[in-house]
Amino acid sequence: MAADATTTDVLVVGSGIAGLAAGLGAARAGSEVTIATKSSRPAGASTWWAQGGVAIARGDPEAFKQDVIEASAGTADPDAVSVLVDQADEIVRDVLVETLDVEFDTNGDAFDFGREAAHGEPRVLHIDASTGRHIHVPFLNHMADHEAVTFREDTAALALITHEGRVHGAMLEHDGEVEPVYAGTTILATGGIGDLYARSTNPDGSTGDGIAMAALAGADVADMEYVQFHPTVSTTEDPFLVSEAVRGEGALLRNGEDERFMPAIHEDAELAPRDVVARAVARERDRTGEVYLDVSPLDFAGTFPDLANLCAERDVDWEQGIPVAPAEHFLCGGIDVDTWGRSSLDCLYAVGECARTGVHGANRLASTSLLEGLVWGMRAGEDAAGADPVVVEAPRLRDSDPALPDRFAREKFVRLQRVMDEYVGLERDPEELQRALGVLRRLKGEVDAYVRTRTQRSLAELRHASITALLIARAATENDESVGTHYVREPAPAREA
Ligand code: SIN
Repeated sequence: MAADATTTDVLVVGSGIAGLAAGLGAARAGSEVTIATKSSRPAGASTWWAQGGVAIARGDPEAFKQDVIEASAGTADPDAVSVLVDQADEIVRDVLVETLDVEFDTNGDAFDFGREAAHGEPRVLHIDASTGRHIHVPFLNHMADHEAVTFREDTAALALITHEGRVHGAMLEHDGEVEPVYAGTTILATGGIGDLYARSTNPDGSTGDGIAMAALAGADVADMEYVQFHPTVSTTEDPFLVSEAVRGEGALLRNGEDERFMPAIHEDAELAPRDVVARAVARERDRTGEVYLDVSPLDFAGTFPDLANLCAERDVDWEQGIPVAPAEHFLCGGIDVDTWGRSSLDCLYAVGECARTGVHGANRLASTSLLEGLVWGMRAGEDAAGADPVVVEAPRLRDSDPALPDRFAREKFVRLQRVMDEYVGLERDPEELQRALGVLRRLKGEVDAYVRTRTQRSLAELRHASITALLIARAATENDESVGTHYVREPAPAREA
């Protein structure tokens, strides 16, 4: 091993709940862990923004499993769902309640379980409607204080280091400098793909980095066409999520003609599966000009004070209803992994939103993403511990010379988002998907011509986004079955002669 090479037992890329849990699992199993994160502030991870909460089984795992599978339109992998649900209560108690001292809302002596769409019963642990940050901040603090853990903030992974089918770490960039970090095992926890669409609930920087790096290294990806849109995201300039929990408490959706439209569309009305509600909201907006969430049936400010404050900050008079539209929220597919988070490449793991565990199938049940990140993170971390780092030849990344302006990336992003919004959004059309595929191929070609091996972060993100967009569009063109989040419009009936 080269004397000056930087090595670690386990390299985790990403610091949302999945990455932190992976680090904790590996550290508990005796490994030295390095956590590299693009962000230098908690709000850089989707976890911080999560509102709803963490669903648990509450002693009835079969009912919970059934809800997960039904919400997925029967496409979730039952083995993966069993792992998620059977471990939920124990891992939540161990990590969140006992290790991190997270204080979920209570009602008297008992937890105050929230109800969300497609859950047969209230089973969501929450803290107001800002559960994510109340978990994320103590988790970050706990890991920052852990003696087996080193944090590298404001540090982006640009490429994986591979040799003969095994992953040996990643090329990390900080402040323009790039260096190889060799690891016995590498765990990708890079989150979502929000930057591929103009409107998303994800924080900026959600560019599909882990998925693109893994795919470039030859890892299998799966279910990429299943992009979940959240139905109720404010239409304000700086959009904010209005949690499904608000509908769980009785809020109603009304269109521009003041009519409630969900009861005619699904028997569960506002609490129908998320994809059904999202498409209905989009159609009603097209038809009547707007959709708003009528929160008058509940004590909105009393039950959701954080959301009421957000409304006030963004000049939304919630007593008149909150104007909403769908926005990209979560990718159900990703790097294909088993129930321990192992990818198809030796020593490469993936957890959280960048992974495809099979739990969500074609559509994710509300308040299962933090849980999935926690369960798969702990399992992957434990499994990944114990391999020694080996120093191999690192990929050569050329500096961009001269540096391309970040404006180059921004301009390309606008084009990429336009294609994804128009053709690879809530409703898809086979011909339009083919067109999108063509445009995205050309765009990736243009991006590659400039940035194949460059070290500039904005360009690496653009390249990752263009690869991930292409994977999504290609998967969408290859699946002509409308299921869950992947909705393919019927061709118009042929005109009679
Ligand atoms: C929400 O609070 O509506 C989002 C919860 C989730 O996506 O699981």
